[in-house]
Amino acid sequence: MPAAQLYDNHGRPLSYVRLAVTDRCNLRCFYCMPEEGIKYLPKNQLLTYEEMERLVGLLARLGISKVRITGGEPFVRRDLVPFLWRLRALPGIEQLHLTTNGLLTAPLVPELKQLGVGAVNLSLDTLDRERFHRITRRDDLPKVMATLDALLAHDIPVKLNAVVMEGQNTEDLGPLAELARHQPVEVRFIEEMPFNGEGSHYPVLTWTHRAILARLTELYPGLHKVPDPAFSTAYHYQVPGFKGKLGIIAAYSRTFCGTCNRIRITAQGTLKTCLYDHGVLDLRALLRANASDETLTAALLRAFGSRPKDGHEAERGRLAHPVQESMSTIGG
Ligand code: GTP
Ligand code: 5AD
Ligand code: SF4
Repeated sequence: MPAAQLYDNHGRPLSYVRLAVTDRCNLRCFYCMPEEGIKYLPKNQLLTYEEMERLVGLLARLGISKVRITGGEPFVRRDLVPFLWRLRALPGIEQLHLTTNGLLTAPLVPELKQLGVGAVNLSLDTLDRERFHRITRRDDLPKVMATLDALLAHDIPVKLNAVVMEGQNTEDLGPLAELARHQPVEVRFIEEMPFNGEGSHYPVLTWTHRAILARLTELYPGLHKVPDPAFSTAYHYQVPGFKGKLGIIAAYSRTFCGTCNRIRITAQGTLKTCLYDHGVLDLRALLRANASDETLTAALLRAFGSRPKDGHEAERGRLAHPVQESMSTIGG
């Protein structure tokens, strides 16, 4: 049981922190980063593992019980796995999840199993090697597939994340969905958000959650809605006879904010209480000014007490328009 139950100012329980451990990545996905000219943070601007452990410990005492490790690509940060063991040992942390691009992950899967990692979300936008190369700007599809195989072989629940992009991978919806026919994976199709370091790719988003659902229904006329777990970002669907499920994440339309249970800590230690806000608290500055646990806790609680009601309100409150951030610093 969590130490306490934490609520925000809209009565939403907060139980989930997404922790970006690095802004670096070994891919250059079109929807996340420009091809060149990315300015990575100097190392001393990233939170140290000790700082992250302290923050997660404080959050656990407040009632946060699920941690997702994100990046950039989390496994490009040295010594991540020993850090995961330390998080695992924190009282109150009941679920440890990871979002990864899968390039470095396959050999680590047996240890992730030992760690009791609850699920791994793997980014996979296409099964076609050339399209993978074009979207990610690296020819590394086989490594991702090796990670998928290793996760399945070790019975670690897997969700596949596919961002749907006009002119890039719309022909992949069917082949990706087919992965759920014989395997217990959840294949999730995601609306593209403008967090690519450059602003929106499209004047109007074509591949909305409605358009994605319409295409999936064309492909699978028997597709039907099934219940979603609490606090889910995805709407879940079943195709009769499929072992796994399909999901659609309305990340841009932001239809699920009413049940949002998550906060974020970016790689440089900024607290975000919404993906679309510009950062509401500089935790790194507090940590490095030797703030006490009481001071940190009070600052966190103040931030949780003034969350925007949804991602549209958060976006309106941003200092900079249009959004110029990259997903690699936010952590997704
Ligand atoms: P589960 O914990 O397994 O439900 O996964 P998740 O959907 O929380 O995390 P994941 O890292 O797999 O993210 C999948 C997609 O959903 C990414 O494109 C995220 O940016 C997006 N996403 C995750 N959380 C939020 C959120 O709070 N708001 C919005 N708008 N999108 C989100
Ligand atoms: N829009 C939607 N999803 C994105 N992701 C990364 N950038 C974007 C974007 N601009 C997804 C990746 C990854 C998850 C953490 O975020 O697919 O799996
Ligand atoms: Fe939560 Fe903001 Fe995402 Fe909505 S857009 S689900 S409020 S983080």
